[in-house]
Amino acid sequence: MSSHIEVERLSKTYRHPMKVWKVIEAVKELSFTTGPGEIVGFVGHNGAGKTTTIKMLMGFVAPTAGRISLFGKAPGDPAALRRLGFLPERPYFYSHLSGRELLRYFCGLSDIPAAAAKGRIETTLKTVGLADAGDLTLANYSKGMLQRIGIAQAIIHDPELVVMDEPMSGLDPIGRREVKDIIRELKKNGKAVLFSSHILGDIEDLSDRILIIEKGVRRSFGTLAEIIPRENIGWRVSFAAPEKDRDALFAAFKGLRVANGLFTATFASEQEMNAALTAVMERRHTVIEAGPLYPTLEEVVFRMQERNGTEVTHG
Ligand SMILES: Nc1ncnc2c1ncn2[C@@H]1O[C@H](COP(=O)(O)OP(=O)(O)O)[C@@H](O)[C@H]1O
Ligand SMILES: [Mg+2]
Repeated sequence: MSSHIEVERLSKTYRHPMKVWKVIEAVKELSFTTGPGEIVGFVGHNGAGKTTTIKMLMGFVAPTAGRISLFGKAPGDPAALRRLGFLPERPYFYSHLSGRELLRYFCGLSDIPAAAAKGRIETTLKTVGLADAGDLTLANYSKGMLQRIGIAQAIIHDPELVVMDEPMSGLDPIGRREVKDIIRELKKNGKAVLFSSHILGDIEDLSDRILIIEKGVRRSFGTLAEIIPRENIGWRVSFAAPEKDRDALFAAFKGLRVANGLFTATFASEQEMNAALTAVMERRHTVIEAGPLYPTLEEVVFRMQERNGTEVTHG
């Protein structure tokens, strides 16, 4: 399997804009590799170095040190750019153009022949859910629609890999869901996606692998299962039971919680969970779920910051 992105010991230091004697180490010796068809979520707080890394990948900013290969080429190489789509952090488009006109312009930039362009534009508008809004000028687009036309320009030339910098940021819950659905759709069509976010929930939902950076340094890279420690934080049994049994259940299970008719009890050990499971089944209630409770990505990252130590997993 050939890789898409290969980044090796990549570093970028900026001069401080005011205090020129000061340097800012935006990215420090970052290494990672991504491959075809995978969604890689790139997480880190504001200022962690995500945008700087992405700008180096796109060839907009020269690395201070390290190596980048995109499809075996240097960043900015036309052969690599043809296979790559890009959505910047705050895309800006000329607002007097309609969605279709904007995409026609980008077709021109990508050397898509006029005959093929029409079909590409319609397919792309459909992919991003703007088929009916293609003739509206961008001035009349909502924030979510602008983000989606931004994704459309990134995929107009049918790239194998789409890099998106904070594609969900600044959107309302519906807008976020629409963008997430587009990312899933891209994957379904065999595309690879690298997207950055400072929101762990979005990353957790979408990513095949997750790259976590903090202050320019890689803290973790791997699947959710690899990043989240195997040691669990408890055991739980969830079951459905009739309302009339409620009091008896609360008496029988310590720390029981109930929401929408679903009862959940948590335990410190597997033995306790098994005993509760038996008791639930003896009462003929329906077991919905039983097993270990793992920490969320949010909790894992939080603990990393507390430890402020070195990487937990390698990928
Ligand atoms: N052009 C620049 N000049 C000086 N410092 C910069 C420049 N761009 C980014 N930085 C600094 O580099 C660090 C990383 O920024 P950035 O890559 O934008 O992080 P993120 O995208 O994760 O929020 C920050 O401390 C930021 O202030
Ligand atoms: Mg950024």
